[in-house]
Amino acid sequence: MKSVLAMLGVGAAMTAAAVGALIWAGNQQLAKDFGALPETVAGGPGDPALGARLVSVYGCNSCHGAALTGEDFYGVVAPNLRRRAREWSCEDFARAVRHGLRPDGTSISWAMPSEMFAAMADNEIAAIHAHLRTLPAANDAQAITLKHRLVKAFFAAMGELIPNAVLVRATDRGPAVAPAPGTPAWGPYFTRLACAECHNHGLGGSPEGSPALADAIQIYDWPAFVTLTTTGRPPDGRKLRLMTGVGAQRLPHMTDAERRALFDYLKSLPQP
Ligand code: HEC
Ligand code: HEC
Repeated sequence: MKSVLAMLGVGAAMTAAAVGALIWAGNQQLAKDFGALPETVAGGPGDPALGARLVSVYGCNSCHGAALTGEDFYGVVAPNLRRRAREWSCEDFARAVRHGLRPDGTSISWAMPSEMFAAMADNEIAAIHAHLRTLPAANDAQAITLKHRLVKAFFAAMGELIPNAVLVRATDRGPAVAPAPGTPAWGPYFTRLACAECHNHGLGGSPEGSPALADAIQIYDWPAFVTLTTTGRPPDGRKLRLMTGVGAQRLPHMTDAERRALFDYLKSLPQP
């Protein structure tokens, strides 16, 4: 009996040591200094009205909370952006969003889609920063708990929380000013920022259940597309899942010119 208890004790101690080593390895990765690249944002201060629209269209408020004051995103805290915009200069903020690097050189993980946002134009990132600074300061809606720290360290150690620093190329960067809707550069620009997070690079869809957009657009005429992108409802009464929220909460904030240009662009995609 005594020896069984002793063996159980040794087993428990070994498990605790293994978990401890894993958490330690994860924390080493999370603390790694990738070197904060120099970052520039051309043009003057951003337009807060444009920023107010973009935080919805690009989905910042679907992960960082409706009030942008922070939210639990599948066990990882998407931080309080009102606080970050106050603490960080426009350049520091732009480096975090577009390259996934914090001012101290540590990397933000791919739970934050910097790989898509890397292409964001200077005037748009400046607009988001300016908008966040016009909102009243607010406490963090989601505290970082011990559970959050352990979850993050565990998934980092398992290689499942990939650092954006290894996904985003240092040379990948957006234009000074976003292309105008309807110009040839606009379609690829806008869809990378607003759709690729779920429909993938190249808009070919993902095995997790989002369709290739060149296919999905076939059943849509213009009025049906307006309904999808203002209410989240498809033409034939089917029940959509994730796309319901995107259509009802994110895409209504597009301008009319953007909605029209998006429809024309999707219709012009070659079918796979
Ligand atoms: C799919 C969900 C998602 C979307 C969309 C998203 N974020 Fe994030 N963001 C996160 C998560 C999760 C983190 C924390 C990741 C981590 O700590 O590794 C984060 C981190 C950040 C950080 C770094 C904060 C810090 O203190 O480390 C900034 C800045 C940021 N996001 C800004 C934005 C902006 C601006 C947008 C919209 C253009 C946006 N995010 C859209 C999920 C998202
Ligand atoms: C947050 C993830 C997400 C984003 C962002 C997103 N989609 Fe979707 N979309 C989905 C998913 C998932 C589906 C499959 C249906 C479902 O599960 O809701 C879908 C389905 C669709 C469909 C087919 C609807 C039908 O009739 O079956 C169209 C069209 C579409 N998306 C267009 C877009 C466009 C255009 C954008 C960018 C402006 C976009 N989506 C952004 C997740 C997303």
